[in-house]
Amino acid sequence: MAGLDAILVARVEVLRREIDRHDHLYHVLDSPEVTDAEYDALVRELRNHEEQHPEIVTSDSPTQRVGSEPVDGFEQVTHRRPMLSLGNAFDDDDFVAWHTRNAGLLEIDEFEMVCELKYDGLAVALTYEGGVLVRGATRGNALVGEDVTANLRTIRSIPQRLRGPNVPSVLEVRGEVYFPKSKFDAFNVQRETDGLPTYANPRNTAAGSLRQLDPKMTAQRPLDIFVYNIGFQEGGQQPESHQAALDYLADLGFRTNPNTALAPSPTRVFNYYRQWIENVESLDYDCDGVVVKINRFDYQNHLGDVGREPRWAIAYKFPAVQAVTTLNAIKFNVGRTGSINPYAELEPVIVGGVTVRNATLHNEDFIRARDLRVGDRVTVERAGEVIPQVVRAWPEQRTGNPPEFEMPDTCPSCGQPVSRIAGEAMSYCRNASCPGQLVRLVEHFVSRGAMDIEGLGVKQSELFIERGRIKDIADIYDLHRYRRELESMERMGKKKVDNLVEAIKKSKEQPLNRVLVALGIDLVGSEVAALLARHFGSIYAIQAAEPEQLAAVPGIGPKIADSVSQYLRIQGNISLVRRLDLAELQLTQEIVDVQVADRPLDGKRFVVTGRLPNFSRSQIESRIKELGGAVSGSVSKRTNYLVAGEGAGSKRADAEALEIAILGEDEFLKLAEGCGDD
Ligand code: IVH
Repeated sequence: MAGLDAILVARVEVLRREIDRHDHLYHVLDSPEVTDAEYDALVRELRNHEEQHPEIVTSDSPTQRVGSEPVDGFEQVTHRRPMLSLGNAFDDDDFVAWHTRNAGLLEIDEFEMVCELKYDGLAVALTYEGGVLVRGATRGNALVGEDVTANLRTIRSIPQRLRGPNVPSVLEVRGEVYFPKSKFDAFNVQRETDGLPTYANPRNTAAGSLRQLDPKMTAQRPLDIFVYNIGFQEGGQQPESHQAALDYLADLGFRTNPNTALAPSPTRVFNYYRQWIENVESLDYDCDGVVVKINRFDYQNHLGDVGREPRWAIAYKFPAVQAVTTLNAIKFNVGRTGSINPYAELEPVIVGGVTVRNATLHNEDFIRARDLRVGDRVTVERAGEVIPQVVRAWPEQRTGNPPEFEMPDTCPSCGQPVSRIAGEAMSYCRNASCPGQLVRLVEHFVSRGAMDIEGLGVKQSELFIERGRIKDIADIYDLHRYRRELESMERMGKKKVDNLVEAIKKSKEQPLNRVLVALGIDLVGSEVAALLARHFGSIYAIQAAEPEQLAAVPGIGPKIADSVSQYLRIQGNISLVRRLDLAELQLTQEIVDVQVADRPLDGKRFVVTGRLPNFSRSQIESRIKELGGAVSGSVSKRTNYLVAGEGAGSKRADAEALEIAILGEDEFLKLAEGCGDD
């Protein structure tokens, strides 16, 4: 900046600070100090200086909020910590269960909670370095989101620079971006006038606005934000509770929600919840429940996460919204396991701001229990992000005499017979080469969390399956042999085929855990797959393991173990695995395991039953597995110990009959402790 007038530089800085301060007063605190005209004069002056001296423009200058240049696409951003989601409670009992579980884990009766509203917008993460906004990203898939910094800068209530004396060196805050309800109707009317498609609800509008490639478009949308958590922090003040963190965020200049309350007990949470059910319509943002968070951070840390959800927070959802419409048809699709899934085709109806055209009908019993018939008036319900449900039919409004529902006896995809095993809710197509199943399986196999093969969408795989080029998923790795044929197919062409072949080849580098996910084994998601891969180190070792050995891995229960073991022992799947091996997929990896010395219960089989005085059943089970023991669900000759609490019932009787050692909690702990001393 050599040669520039120092007075000018100082003036520019003063203007920026002043404008930031007025933005904060107006957009965050809702208490402006100057008129619009006075504010505009400051911005005009700053813009003039910047236009004459473009070299002094900085990305955090308030003039940059109107939107920078359009981009071709968004970069990916890996979040420093996953952006977790929340478990749900749908009634008071669910909430009490959550409270009781945490009280048990914390070994206290009461703890303070913070009640917040659950804003129905779009989660974002804002990163500040040295107090300056450097990055804003969407939640994405929780681990990786999209860099939408330029768009987020246009939101006036997002500070570009942090305020106050306690600015951390690095800070990542999380919050919800929303489109104000009061501006939504006028916005849609304007779009209609402009001949543009309208948005279904404020939430979609917020999402659409944040994903505009041209930030100037975003700048024209009245988006706003509430920040609700610190994701990551270095330096600055170290709050010890959630409430203190919210106060700190407000001090730093963020917009936090004023409708937050401390609750010492579930009763107070229920008051808050009921109060907001009554008043939710008065808010200028959509809100689908309340979020309850345990206040103290040391408690939060002690409780930790389970899967992708923190134990220390829960969303208590408001009751669902309903609407009445006509059931036009009952259709079926085939799941990747061959399940025949009935769904409703509905006369489109708006439920809580979203147009609903289809609803799941689950299975035959669900339809029969409600005696749903084609042509009926039905009540549909939408609760949060859950798939719409048909709650009931209104048979009194029935015209004519539509036939009772019958499950088809042949598969809608392949025409082979459908079977339903007694005691099971679902009907299945058992034809292993059913194209309907295969499409779903391929869809899953190539998906992002699995083999991540781009260019093999549903349309393509339908085509390849129809032509007989994909008969099972291993055939994907032979597709390159038919380049010519693929190129001549509808919507393909050379470039697309090249890319696809390349993507398929690249997918061979995916590690074992991804391959395990990709197979689509029931109950095997990314976490279970990672545990199996780390523990056994090869798909063949998993195949060879007894269900009890699988269940001995901490984090893997008997149901998962059975599912994995059954899948890998089916003849067709054994040869599938072989072919994937021949195709050079990664079916082995390094074993990351605890030493045998730390596994004193190795080879011992346990069953845990009844209410134990101090620990939950799953805590005891985890301990057993940590020490190398196996846990199963029922007592057999091979069981070594039954750990039994109050109300143990039939398992105790079984153990007595088989003369199996029965341990109380104390005795088990002694055994476990004794082991530790070995
Ligand atoms: S806390 C680890 N607080 O709900 C805690 N989330 O299901 C996770 N949400 O992705 C977030 N209002 O988009 C939190 N007051 C609030 C919220 C809130 C809405 C959203 C957020 C998140 C989703 C989790």
